[in-house]
Formats: sequence, C-alpha cells, structure tokens
Amino acid sequence: ANLTLIYLIIIYKGLYNLATGRNVTQSSNFGAWFAEQAIDFNPGLTKSYSACSSTSAQTNSWWRVDLSSVYRVSRVVVTNRLDCCPERINGAEIRIGNSLENNGNNHPICAVISSIPAGVSFTYICNDMEGRYVNLFIPGDKRFLTVCEVEVYGVASGSAPTANTALWRIASQSSQLEDWISRNTVDGLRDSCSHTNPQTDPWWKVDLLNEYKVNRVAITNRLSKYYYRINGAVIRITDVLSVCRCAVVSTIPSGATANFSCGGIEGRYVTVHIPGDLKILTLCEVEVYGDLIGKSLL
Ligand SMILES: *[C@@H]1O[C@H](CO)[C@@H](O)[C@H](O)[C@H]1NC(C)=O
Ligand SMILES: *[C@@H]1O[C@H](CO)[C@@H](O)[C@H](O)[C@H]1NC(C)=O
Repeated sequence: ANLTLIYLIIIYKGLYNLATGRNVTQSSNFGAWFAEQAIDFNPGLTKSYSACSSTSAQTNSWWRVDLSSVYRVSRVVVTNRLDCCPERINGAEIRIGNSLENNGNNHPICAVISSIPAGVSFTYICNDMEGRYVNLFIPGDKRFLTVCEVEVYGVASGSAPTANTALWRIASQSSQLEDWISRNTVDGLRDSCSHTNPQTDPWWKVDLLNEYKVNRVAITNRLSKYYYRINGAVIRITDVLSVCRCAVVSTIPSGATANFSCGGIEGRYVTVHIPGDLKILTLCEVEVYGDLIGKSLL
C-alpha cells in the first residue's frame, strides 16, 4: 500500500505541475540556456548547461511562464544549479498575476528567494495567489538569472467565470477499451474520448481536487452512429459523505455538447454512469463549471 501511495504521489506531482508544456520566456538568453530548460523535468544535476535556463548578466533579469489560464497558485518549487555559483539566484522575487505590464514583473510577490543551496529544490508557499503568469525577477544591475527547474502547483481559479475546473484533473473509469483512456475526457479536446468495455453499470469519474459548488456540467458525445449509447447516463456530484444526482441524460446528438444544470450542488467528484447490464460508456469531454469552496488542497 505504501508503494502504491508513493507511485500515486509521483504521478500526481508529474501530471499537475502547471508549468509543464507552457510558454516560457526570459529577458535574454545566455548562450543555449533557453527558458524552456527550466520546465523540462531535468533539474540539471549532472550537466546543468543543457538542463537549466539562464539570462545573461543584465539589469532586472526575469524569467516567466504563461500558465495559459488563471490559477490559484498554492506553491512554487525552484531548483538551483549544482555546478557553480548558487548565489546567483539570491534575491529573486517570485511574482504572480494576470497582466504583462513591465513583462509581468510588477505583480504581487509570493516570496523572495534569499538563497538556495547548490542543486537543491526549495518550495515557496503562495497561499492561493491568483494569476496566469509566474515570474522570477531579480532587480539590480549585472545579474544573471539562472534556474534549473520551476514547478508551479495550484488549481483553476474559481473566480474566472470560464474556467473548466475538470481540465487535467484526475479521471478514472470502470474499464477501458483499447487506448480510450479516461483522461481523454478532461484534456480540453472534444474529439478525443474515453470508452469502457460492455459491462454492468459502467462509470467514469473525475476528482476535482477541491470542493466546488457545481453550477453546470457539459458533456460532449461521440461523433458516431453509436451516439445513442449515452442515453440514460446519470450525472452525479459526490463527496466523502454525499451523493447527489445532478441530471439524467435523455439523449445528446452525435458529436454534440449538452449542458446540464446542477444548481450549485457541492462536491469534489463528478461521476457519470449508465445503469444496466451490457452498457458502454463513451465520453469525449466532460467540463465542470462552478465556484471553489475554501482553499486549495494541494
Ligand atoms: C509565447 O510567448 C511569447 C512572449 O509573450 C509570445 O510572443 C509568443 O507568441 C507565445 N507563443 C505561444 C505559442 O503562445
Ligand atoms: C452551455 O452553457 C454555456 C454557458 O451558459 C453557453 O455558452 C453554451 O452555449 C451552452 N451550450 C449549449 C450547447 O447550450
């Protein structure tokens, strides 16, 4: 059981680093020390020159990641270089916010890095600061900004009205046909789908990682002559001690997206299941819209 937990933590950490795959940029490039090398999952503990990012020595150097939508950032993890000069990170400010004014360097400060030992990762707690951009900023002259890894953790912001809180959250399903994985339903693409085998009461579930008042669930059906298989699916919002039915799908046209109003039912998990024998559940996207209750669990 402990081993399973460790694996889960690794997967969890790997999947939900919000910086992964995002657009990064920095104030200047020192040789081939590009900004992307700070989000490449390579902390650079052996050959830092190919695994870390660095600006040249300049005035007010900065590095920035665009998370592409607004998040409540719970923590930022910064890994320093191992090979030399760990003091170059000293004084770097972690700034989080939503505008690109002064390249994002005017945002509120989550933390100021006093120092990080060579090759070590330090975690800075940001208490759900809201923003789309996370910057590292070193005020002053002739300063290199070198960083080997920047990880950002948090949850989609409840105050952003268009945020789909299910996006990239933890999905699972009762069984899987071929490579129709459960995550296809929370990947932001309405043409990649999850698919169970024929079975009794097939289900799909997403863990939103937080409690939400769920206002609306949008389901995208497959584009197929088998579109009718969704008929009778039950949408539920659940929590540790509660199970509430939000809606029953009568039918959704082939390839279409339908809204189901949930009237603010509170919960952390959204499930879709089809009662009955020899049923198949195929879902191409499940979007969940609602308001965050309380603080991030991450
Ligand atoms: C990445 O960010 C830079 C700087 O803001 C911008 O010019 C570029 O268009 C962005 N690229 C993508 C793919 O969004
Ligand atoms: C679902 O609701 C959203 C928000 O109200 C709306 O923008 C969208 O058009 C609706 N979709 C359908 C298929 O009704």
